[in-house]
Amino acid sequence: PRHLLTLDGLPRDALNALLVRAQAFAEGHYDRRALDGIAVCTLFFEPSTRTRMSFTLAAQRLGADTLNFDASTSSTRKGETALDTVKNLEAMGVRGFVVRHQEDGAVAALASQVNDGTVLVNAGDGRSAHPTQGLLDMLTLRQAKGADFSTRKVLIVGDVKHSRVARSDLQALRTLGTGEIRVCGPASLLPQDGTLQGCTVSDDLDAALEGVDAVMMLRLQRERMEEGLVASLDDYHRDFGLTATRLTRAAPDAIVMHPGPINRGVEITDEVADGPQSLILRQVSNGVAVRMAVLEALLKG
Ligand code: CP
Repeated sequence: PRHLLTLDGLPRDALNALLVRAQAFAEGHYDRRALDGIAVCTLFFEPSTRTRMSFTLAAQRLGADTLNFDASTSSTRKGETALDTVKNLEAMGVRGFVVRHQEDGAVAALASQVNDGTVLVNAGDGRSAHPTQGLLDMLTLRQAKGADFSTRKVLIVGDVKHSRVARSDLQALRTLGTGEIRVCGPASLLPQDGTLQGCTVSDDLDAALEGVDAVMMLRLQRERMEEGLVASLDDYHRDFGLTATRLTRAAPDAIVMHPGPINRGVEITDEVADGPQSLILRQVSNGVAVRMAVLEALLKG
């Protein structure tokens, strides 16, 4: 595809090709002039640490010129629309836009109105998609557990309803033919829209953890949540928090993942987040490599 808006519909071969390329980047094999003369702008209408910084680093490692647009200090504050912002940056010669927006579908809407040759990457739109997070999570799983996902049991825990990360992860896990995908969370935080099709769904975390190879914890997204969806943070932690004791139910070599930012002591304890089975910071490292692969695929040549 010309843009990367979602992992939905991305064929397995294309997904695997990005992961293989990202692995090479992770091992330090890259051309520092691959994107020489190409300008890439990160355009974020929502906060970010990992995604924005790692896209910037990825673009710089490939030799691109990088611009960072911060909505809070821009002419957006004077009422300028996202589309006018993109059009003005296009006029300066920017070719690649990495866009995060609070509204579902906002990045696709922009993509339909840009010039030929302009490329958009969705860095997270509303609850819909966060495709590069899905890719970096798959790279992390692949490194830890191998390229054959068919015998793997993967558990996703928590606030799936508000999670674009979970939607992209689920799409990628299905595309890669994951043996069993389990989802666990309170009914109030599980979507009823077909997102969980084909998943084994439960509200019993102890049972859901039995024998899994990977546990992907989700952040409780309080900024997208109506009041009352969870009784209290203490109750949530008691029922759905990953503790070291609970983790012993998973396979002995199970890995623990979390997209960040972490609500420490809510969805996961410090002991697990910082423990030997945690690959949370590996995910972050892989984010740079995956974003290099995406920018190269969309912008080079
Ligand atoms: N995981 C993730 O998207 O983190 P940021 O919101 O900090 O980019």
